[in-house]
Amino acid sequence: MKRRIGVLTSGGDCPGLNAVLRGIALAAEKLNFEVLGFLDGFEGLLPPGTFRVLDRRSTSGIMPRGGTIIGTTNRGHFVAKVGAGDRTVVAAQVIEDARKVLSNHGVEALIIVGGDGSMTTALQLQEAGINCIGVPKTIDNDLEATAMTFGFDSAVAAVTDALDRLHTTATSHKRVMILEVMGRHAGWIALHGGIAGGAHMILIPEIPFSYDAVVEAIRMREERGSVYSLVVVAEGAWPAEGQPVMRHGDAGEDRFGGIGGVVAAEIAARTGKETRCTVLGHLQRGGPPTTLDRILGTRFGVQAAKMAAAGHFGSMVSYQNYQVQHVPIADAVNRLRLVSPESQMVQTARDVEISFGD
Ligand code: F6P
Repeated sequence: MKRRIGVLTSGGDCPGLNAVLRGIALAAEKLNFEVLGFLDGFEGLLPPGTFRVLDRRSTSGIMPRGGTIIGTTNRGHFVAKVGAGDRTVVAAQVIEDARKVLSNHGVEALIIVGGDGSMTTALQLQEAGINCIGVPKTIDNDLEATAMTFGFDSAVAAVTDALDRLHTTATSHKRVMILEVMGRHAGWIALHGGIAGGAHMILIPEIPFSYDAVVEAIRMREERGSVYSLVVVAEGAWPAEGQPVMRHGDAGEDRFGGIGGVVAAEIAARTGKETRCTVLGHLQRGGPPTTLDRILGTRFGVQAAKMAAAGHFGSMVSYQNYQVQHVPIADAVNRLRLVSPESQMVQTARDVEISFGD
C-alpha cells in the first residue's frame, strides 16, 4: 500500500482552500504519498471515517473555485474554542476514535487547514499522539504566527468592489453609505478594503470610535463641498461609550453583526442626512480566489505536503519575509495579530483624510 497522509479543511471557508488541496495532492504525488481528504472538517474523522482520495484527477480544475471541495464546519464534535481566548477540551473518546480511524486507514500524518480554533483542536490531537501539521487559514488575516493568510486578499477585493459600487450611488443621492464588513477582533479587512475603495471613514475594533467624531468628520466633508460619504465598519467595531454589537450563537460561539445599522441610524439622526447600510456578509468569503490567494494557497499546500513527508509534526505552515516556512502549532494558537493604531497603514489612511472616528 502507498504511504498515506490525510487532510481536512475546518472552520469558516475561505477563497484559496482548493488551491491548498491541489497543492497538497500534486506535491504528495511526487513524494509518493496518497492523500485522503476527510469530509466536513474534523467530523470526517468520526468512525468509520468519510473521505475522498485527492489526486491529480480529483483536484484538476479546482483552483479557481471558492469554498472547499471536501466541505468544512465550525461546529461538531471537535470544537476546541467557542470565543476569543476560550478553550474547551475535545472529549478523549472522540480523539481516540479519530486516532483509530486514521490508523485503520494507514494515515501517517494529518494536515489541518484552519484558523485559530482549528489549530487549538490540532494541538489537542497532536498531544494525543496524532501526527498533525497545520495550515493557517482565515480571511481575517489576524494570526500572529504568519505574516499573511490566503483568503484575505480575496475578501479585501470584495470590499473594494463593493465600495466602488457604493461610491456611484452615494454621489448620485448625496448619501452617507455604510458598508459593514467582517472582522470580529481585527480590522484588517476594513482597513485594507477601506483604503483601496476610497472610503472616508473606517471604524475598526482596535480604535474605539465616538459618534461626535464620526459626525464631525462627515460635517467637515460637507464644509469642503463633499456631500456624500463612504463609511466602512468592521463588525467588531464599537463606540468608546458603548459595546460591540454581538449575540451568542446556538453553539455558544460569539457572533458579531449589526453595528453598521446602528452607526447608520445614529448618523442619520444626528446629521439629518439620508444614510443607508449594506452588510457585505458572506459575499466577502465566497467566490473565486484572487491571483495572490491562489499562489499563497498553492505554496502553503506544497509546504504542508513536504512537512508531512519530512516528519515536521506539531508544526504549522507560516509565511514570513516572503518565504513559506513553519512554526510550532503551540506558538501559533491564541495569538491574534491586531491592527496597531500607531502603524504605518493607519497613518497612511489618516494622511489621505480617512477618519477613524476617534
Ligand atoms: O473568522 C472568519 C469569519 O469570516 C469572521 O470574519 C466572521 O465573523 C465569521 O467568520 C462568520 O462566521 P459564520 O460563517 O459562522 O457566520
